[in-house]
Amino acid sequence: MQASVSPFVDGRRNPVLAGLILASRQTLRERFLAGATSAGAPTLLLDVLTDSLIDRCAQAAADGDLAALAEWAEETCATRADAPAVHQLFLSVDATLTQTLGAGGLKPFAGRLTSLVERLRARSAAAGTDTVDELDLLLADLVARVEHNDPMTAEHCRAVSAWCARIAHRLSLTRSEASFAARGGLIHDVGKSVTPPEILQAARPLTESEWIVMRDHVVSGHDIVRDNQHLREFAPIVRSHHERFDGRGYPDGLERARVPIAVRIVTVADAFNAMIGRRPYRTPLSPDRAMTELRRCAGTQFDPNVVAALIDVVGANHKPALTDGAVAC
Ligand SMILES: [Fe+2]
Repeated sequence: MQASVSPFVDGRRNPVLAGLILASRQTLRERFLAGATSAGAPTLLLDVLTDSLIDRCAQAAADGDLAALAEWAEETCATRADAPAVHQLFLSVDATLTQTLGAGGLKPFAGRLTSLVERLRARSAAAGTDTVDELDLLLADLVARVEHNDPMTAEHCRAVSAWCARIAHRLSLTRSEASFAARGGLIHDVGKSVTPPEILQAARPLTESEWIVMRDHVVSGHDIVRDNQHLREFAPIVRSHHERFDGRGYPDGLERARVPIAVRIVTVADAFNAMIGRRPYRTPLSPDRAMTELRRCAGTQFDPNVVAALIDVVGANHKPALTDGAVAC
């Protein structure tokens, strides 16, 4: 109990309470999850929702404004109206914060949510079933986890997802295959949610030991998705998106025949967007220069058919610059 903490007051910034919420993350996680899952084990979805909830509670306290937190909670509850554990997670906010921090919690927020959740419960009971796309919610929460650790990586993941959809369409893949590649692109770097930010954001060349940590994101990501029934289909994308067409990639040095087309699409989209995107250690390359680099490495690092598809997609509305040349592979 921390009696010196002022309670949350709507309209008044409370950085001390915000700091305490973040400093108490582990205790809050355990108590939130205990309240939400009294009838069973926590799911990965609840796990990531809980992390988002704590971050958003801290932000609400820092801003003295519950609007963003309430909007996110309403949206989450509305799309998960058949999930009592999620309702319970939100309903436990005030009591858990008060119990943990002795700070008066977030009473206005909890009061608002109580009526909201009751309404959604009634609607859910009347409807019988829900039409929620569980998978997309789950993927969005994984991206939120990446964003919390490094916003630039999350931005990159969203862009890669969009490139994957376009490349897949250009390759005449089915709608389902294109959707799979786009979703896989969205979470391909989920392992970077646990990579130290000082390595992800280093504005200098990494040391060899730092590169080892950086490369480990494919294994960390694989660990995150492989045991979840909704996510395990993406495990090859998360683990193998740094494999090379010539079999000299990492972490497994896979032969090309063992790398599915969705993975090869993500690899090219990832490399292209990394080259044209913002990076702490260099300025972005122009699309022309990035395409030149992809062409040069087609057949060794990248699948040449996928490179050709990306160049078609990018080139459709793009006029080449005269000054661009190749860069080292
Ligand atoms: Fe990666």
